[in-house]
Amino acid sequence: MASIVQVAELRKRFGKEVTALGGVDLDVPAGGVFALLGPNGAGKTTLIRVLATLIEADSGTARVAGADVAAEPAAVRAAIGLAGQYAAVDEYLTGAENLEMVGRLYGLGRREARRRGEEVLERFGLAEAAGRYAKTYSGGMRRRLDLAASLVGRPALLILDEPTTGIDPASRRDVWDMIERLVDGGTTVLLTTQYLEEADRLADRIAVIDRGRIVSEGTADELKDRTGGAVIALGLAAADRDKAAATLTGAVPEGDTGLHIPAPNGYADLRTTVDALVAQGIEPTAVALRKPTLDDVFLELTAAAR
Ligand SMILES: Nc1ncnc2c1ncn2[C@@H]1O[C@H](COP(=O)(O)OP(=O)(O)OP(=O)(O)O)[C@@H](O)[C@H]1O
Ligand SMILES: [Mg+2]
Repeated sequence: MASIVQVAELRKRFGKEVTALGGVDLDVPAGGVFALLGPNGAGKTTLIRVLATLIEADSGTARVAGADVAAEPAAVRAAIGLAGQYAAVDEYLTGAENLEMVGRLYGLGRREARRRGEEVLERFGLAEAAGRYAKTYSGGMRRRLDLAASLVGRPALLILDEPTTGIDPASRRDVWDMIERLVDGGTTVLLTTQYLEEADRLADRIAVIDRGRIVSEGTADELKDRTGGAVIALGLAAADRDKAAATLTGAVPEGDTGLHIPAPNGYADLRTTVDALVAQGIEPTAVALRKPTLDDVFLELTAAAR
């Protein structure tokens, strides 16, 4: 399948101390939703800023829609729409004026820019607020206006940096629906998220990024399979938790009293786990054997950082 984004050996440092990207390789197929999933500071925004030609990498290559980000930035910009992590809305323009301005920046004529603006405002449930100054919009409305702006130019690749952070659950579902409709219409969506549920629900493929490196990539099911067939979830008295964690190999803490342990051998692992705890005089308050969730995958892959 053709790739819309091809990244090889991409590196970016800030000053001497921070390696934001430590050699990233990534291939995003055209069509569908691709999620970059990672904790705070993993390098998601940095990678997106390189792809969107907002900053330059120190080394490595990145191509977007066939164009090299360093050599052909204009061609890259023409192919993408971007909604950044923080809404870039002009407070002293109305919603409609904001979108018209963006359309003009994309090179549309005034009338076409206005028409496209109305279309996307309608789609984001902002038609009634179109004539109001953006400074009177709520946080969620600004977020939606920002997303609307990223679509005015009908991009082949839509890049969304944490599109649903800070919006209410109902609006989040609206954004998910909108993303799915766009993909049905042929747009490729590359999004970053810290929400496993969002990646699981929306993404065809997921790359987990941690400390500037891709640590795993595949479909949600492939990632879950790599964690091994099953996971043991233990509830413990708070006083027992650290002792239990030290006893069990591969244990990942959850909350104050929980532990997750990979259980590739299912029930046999459950028995040895409980036996090991009992031998230490620890009695769990809850024991469950279940299929891994994306949460487990994420915790396991990024555990070393915590
Ligand atoms: N302009 C900058 N100057 C210095 N350090 C930076 C700059 N931008 C990012 N960093 C650092 O690079 C690393 C990666 O940051 P980045 O913003 O890419 O992470 P992120 O995955 O988007 O995190 P978040 O989920 O919090 O948005 C962090 O350690 C961050 O502090
Ligand atoms: Mg970020």
